[in-house]
Amino acid sequence: MPEFDLVVLGDANPDLILSGKNVEPAFGQAERLVDEALLVIGGSGAIMACGAARLGLRTAFVGVVGDDAFGRFMLESLAERGVDTRGCPVDPVRPTGVTVILSRGEDRAILTATGTITDLRADAVDRDVLRSARHVHLSSYFLLAGLRRDLPALFEEARSAGATTSIDPNWDPAEEWDGGLLSLLSRTDVFLPNSAEARAITGLEDVDVATEALAEHGCVVAAKFGQGGGMVVTSDFNLHVEAVPVDVADTTGAGDNFDAGFLAGRLNGWSLDRCLAVAVACGSLSTRAVGGTGAQPTMDEALAALSETT
Ligand SMILES: Nc1ncnc2c1ncn2[C@@H]1O[C@H](COP(=O)(O)OP(=O)(O)OP(=O)(O)O)[C@@H](O)[C@H]1O
Ligand SMILES: [Mg+2]
Repeated sequence: MPEFDLVVLGDANPDLILSGKNVEPAFGQAERLVDEALLVIGGSGAIMACGAARLGLRTAFVGVVGDDAFGRFMLESLAERGVDTRGCPVDPVRPTGVTVILSRGEDRAILTATGTITDLRADAVDRDVLRSARHVHLSSYFLLAGLRRDLPALFEEARSAGATTSIDPNWDPAEEWDGGLLSLLSRTDVFLPNSAEARAITGLEDVDVATEALAEHGCVVAAKFGQGGGMVVTSDFNLHVEAVPVDVADTTGAGDNFDAGFLAGRLNGWSLDRCLAVAVACGSLSTRAVGGTGAQPTMDEALAALSETT
């Protein structure tokens, strides 16, 4: 039996979330006061790993951090939430990345210093960890510049050791939207873009057409629509589920929690419609508190939220 249900390859950095109605910065050395500032677990991969651990999956995270306060904060916070970090390289020189989020609740502006986020390389991925996974998930494809070229071989290695694979592309800050992603989809079991990403990656304006085009590469596509819920598409199946109504505090990491719910369902052997329902519930419930990990549900909580809405 593999040691881990899930190994996440990805980005880990603190999020500094400044929230309130008045979070627009003003230059000219003007000082503005915001309602609240919080330093929390950030990085799509780290949030997703915490969400998966909360759902009961035996989870390891593999990503580079620096030998600094932010790096230690990340490793300690992941460990506190039951995520194994033995495979995380610590760079002695480069700083840990950090993201500043200016949040007005449902919308936010994001500033990221990538630091070590981009530094994960295939030769630094602990093979004992990789080969002990039932499933390998890759977050933030476009940020992981040091890993991209070697991903086909890495996914192949994971698959030949018996794992399934998934990718959340997240946004491409360069807005080039390729870098070999489409050719990787034939080695990917589940692809988890949001609607803007699905459209940008395919160059297709209509999201239904875009997700169908992505599914033609042979993967299950689980697409996210914010408060519009989510959709699962394969070459012969298509289902949309509405979001679960919640009092939204902050949508940071909702997509990562959707990913955790969908993959937990897959690893439990559930049907695609149950995986999607759980994914949407996990995404929606995670928005109840500020930060990506502030309100992550257990599987019992996610299932209870589903039964309330059906
Ligand atoms: N305002 C909202 N109200 C209720 N549910 C929401 C809201 N925003 C997001 N969700 C839930 O979270 C899921 C994923 O959200 P979203 O579409 O924002 O992903 P994303 O764009 O990938 O997010 P991320 O910022 O984490 O990358 C949705 O499918 C939905 O279930
Ligand atoms: Mg996302």
